[in-house]
Amino acid sequence: MKIGVYPGSFDPFTVGHLDVLKSAVSLFDLVYVAVLNNSEKDPVFTAAERVDMIDRMIEAEGLQNVRSGMFDGLLVRYAAQVGASHIIRGLRAITDFEYEFQIDAVNRHLMNEIRTVYFMASPSHSFLSSSKVKEIGRFGGSIEGLVPPCNENFIRERLARQ
Ligand code: PNS
Repeated sequence: MKIGVYPGSFDPFTVGHLDVLKSAVSLFDLVYVAVLNNSEKDPVFTAAERVDMIDRMIEAEGLQNVRSGMFDGLLVRYAAQVGASHIIRGLRAITDFEYEFQIDAVNRHLMNEIRTVYFMASPSHSFLSSSKVKEIGRFGGSIEGLVPPCNENFIRERLARQ
């Protein structure tokens, strides 16, 4: 069985993430969307809330071969634990490349047999990030079309209170 891990902070999961996920699912029998539970990053949504939102999105999108997960510590360890052969990441711009290049070098150093595959974000999502969603939401702008519809109200209400 071919297993992939799509890791990230997902604070929150956006339609850009969904686009990458949908590109990846046909290549794997099973994909874990794995939320990094990292207290250093001071996220807006708890790891449990982010996992819940991902579960709602999986259900709403009818993604049969996708599961949510949560990890702390090293990503490659989590990937090995769930039996993944590949890590999945998205790329929007050349600035992402620099960042991904470093992550890949570290991961290969740690576990060379787990390789990373990359999907280019759709041009319509090239500006989109979790940070931009948070910025827009905090200042009362519309986040419609930026996050999965099933999570929009929850995200908007949380950001409005910040
Ligand atoms: O969505 P993000 O925040 O860019 O995701 C970054 C992530 C979670 C892939 C990266 O920070 C990560 O893998 N962290 C876990 C710690 C780890 O394995 N570090 C070594 C690779 S940098």
